[in-house]
Amino acid sequence: MTVHVRESQVFVVPPRTPEIIVRCAEEDDVAAIVAIVAEHARQGHLLPRSADNIRATLSSWLVAEVDGAVAGIGSLVQMSPTLVEVRSLAVLPQYRGLRIGQTIVRGLVDEARRRGFPKVFALTRAVPFFEKLGFRITSKDDFPEKVWRDCAICPLQHACDETAVVIEVEC
Ligand SMILES: CC(C)(COP(=O)(O)OP(=O)(O)OC[C@H]1O[C@@H](n2cnc3c(N)ncnc32)[C@H](O)[C@@H]1OP(=O)(O)O)[C@@H](O)C(=O)NCCC(=O)NCCS
Repeated sequence: MTVHVRESQVFVVPPRTPEIIVRCAEEDDVAAIVAIVAEHARQGHLLPRSADNIRATLSSWLVAEVDGAVAGIGSLVQMSPTLVEVRSLAVLPQYRGLRIGQTIVRGLVDEARRRGFPKVFALTRAVPFFEKLGFRITSKDDFPEKVWRDCAICPLQHACDETAVVIEVEC
């Protein structure tokens, strides 16, 4: 049997736009954040962070929710009275390219401004991503706080392939 479908009977379903919300993290998000950090730490993109550390710093985290599920994360870590770091920034692979990462970073920079930190930096391999958001490349030597506190525990400390980027924030 042959089925003939007339053109007028064909319905094209437009691609559904997912609902994306970037918001402050809550206690219920901890398990999802732990899982995303752990996966990206395994791949060498992020430093590991424990559930206890995440819970203790929850007010410094943003999460992106896509249709109700956590799809992206990012946090601010205070390094000195004038400096904060964008840390643990990650978007699940299936949700990349939807502007989630940039919305999280913009939110974190806004939060730094609100808290009165004039400088925000990141150590990253995604330099063009940060440059599009107004960050500029700088020297790691500008951030001795970072080198002493975190790089000491990093397996790549003597072969670091990350670039320091910074943005000045008008408070
Ligand atoms: C980097 C990352 C967070 C970007 O998230 P995303 O939601 O896909 O990024 P966006 O959609 O907001 O991208 C914004 C812009 O940056 C560009 N971009 C995204 N990821 C990039 C990357 N890894 N390198 C260079 N440019 C990138 C995009 O093409 C886009 O450009 P456009 O505005 O000209 O279209 C994501 O790729 C990721 O989780 N990577 C693995 C973990 C990681 O490297 N984290 C950074 C540690 S500091």
